[in-house]
Amino acid sequence: MLRKILTRESVLQDCKIFRMLAAQNPLHGSFHTPGHKVSGWDITELSYSDNLSCPQGCIAEAERDITEILGSAKSFILTDGSTCGVLSILHAAKALGVRKIALCEVAHKSVFNGCRLLGITPLIYPQKKQGGIPCGYTFSELQQKFPSIFAEADGVFFTSPDYYGNVADLAAWRAYCDESGKLLLVDGAHGGHLHFDKELYAGAYADFWVDGVHKSLPALTQGAVVSAKTEVFAEKLRLALDVFRTTSPSYPIMASVEYAVKFPRNKSLEEQAAAFEKSCKRVYFGGDWTKLCAVFGEYSFAAARDAESAGIYPEFCDGNVVMFYLSPATTDADFQNLIAFLQEAFARYKITSNEEENGIHYVPAPHLFSESGETEWIELSQATGKICARMCGLFPPCTPLLYVGERIEKEKIELLNKADNRFGLRDGKIEVYKK
Ligand SMILES: Cc1ncc(COP(=O)(O)O)c(C=O)c1O
Repeated sequence: MLRKILTRESVLQDCKIFRMLAAQNPLHGSFHTPGHKVSGWDITELSYSDNLSCPQGCIAEAERDITEILGSAKSFILTDGSTCGVLSILHAAKALGVRKIALCEVAHKSVFNGCRLLGITPLIYPQKKQGGIPCGYTFSELQQKFPSIFAEADGVFFTSPDYYGNVADLAAWRAYCDESGKLLLVDGAHGGHLHFDKELYAGAYADFWVDGVHKSLPALTQGAVVSAKTEVFAEKLRLALDVFRTTSPSYPIMASVEYAVKFPRNKSLEEQAAAFEKSCKRVYFGGDWTKLCAVFGEYSFAAARDAESAGIYPEFCDGNVVMFYLSPATTDADFQNLIAFLQEAFARYKITSNEEENGIHYVPAPHLFSESGETEWIELSQATGKICARMCGLFPPCTPLLYVGERIEKEKIELLNKADNRFGLRDGKIEVYKK
């Protein structure tokens, strides 16, 4: 029987972990962790609260519901972000024999770290860009341009949707993987909400996938779900989770993951976002309405600052695009405010052409794992021409701008210099090889 569609008002009544938390003894005296001793939602594994690592009570029930909604053989709640999910699906894939994965260069840093940790070789292909905006290659473009990568890989890994809303050609990749006996892994850190739309949803195609529900659904930060297509795969995932996840999972995060997965679709907002994208040439989202990318070119950092001054805080600015993250929980009033701001800002910051690349060239990293040689930390202003010794980039999107072994270009240093938040740097310095 199909699950009944929940309304916003009825979601909480259906949430098993929330109901357990709400039914706690009001006189609860805490002689257990956590040390703050405040009674409330932030508890530990007690007689009544079940146990994420081996659930039998309310968490098991919540995971059963989530599994049904996402259409997996088994879905696991995560309280340690999609990072934990990415590491776990790579671990599970390795246990199933995967040694080499085909991977786009702008995958999240957890994918590169997972490969390094697990001894999986990433066969990296570059990101396609149009008008300076990252966009995805189609299935046939990838097969034509990089045939040896796909012939050699025993697993294919996609980020879908990516931070710009691009959705991979997953139906075609599913057919390809079935034919060639390869595993299909999807990082859906930005796609939790797509379970409403099975055509776009990773879970309709992948063998293993991650849903980062805290990004595009109303879960607390770090809430995520990782899923497997079959029972056999789920067993591998269970082993991987034992390695990577915390033994002190947060109950508020767990409860919020269940709530977020059950949160209803917001068709009206989806339609408004689609209509705005259609009506405005400088707004773009791949196939995913929650990533509203506004193109400001050279004025992008200025526009992002203006937005903040107007009380509108974007997700990130990449030096060309300012990305505004929507979710089914975005209010109509906030959305209208955003549109009004963008219309006014587009008029103020006229850009002549967006046809050119914005000067940043991503290069696949042939020496990704070479870590030999002495390194030093130097000022960014001294780094042009040196060889990078630690991957670093803008935070978000947390995809490497510079890889280990890459010769550092001036344009990338300029971009790092402009960004408010970066990863891989220390006290504003960058690690490079000494010679
Ligand atoms: C594509 C992608 N994958 C994985 C992650 C990791 O997610 P989390 O921060 O929830 O660990 C992110 C975070 O930005 C991401 O953008």
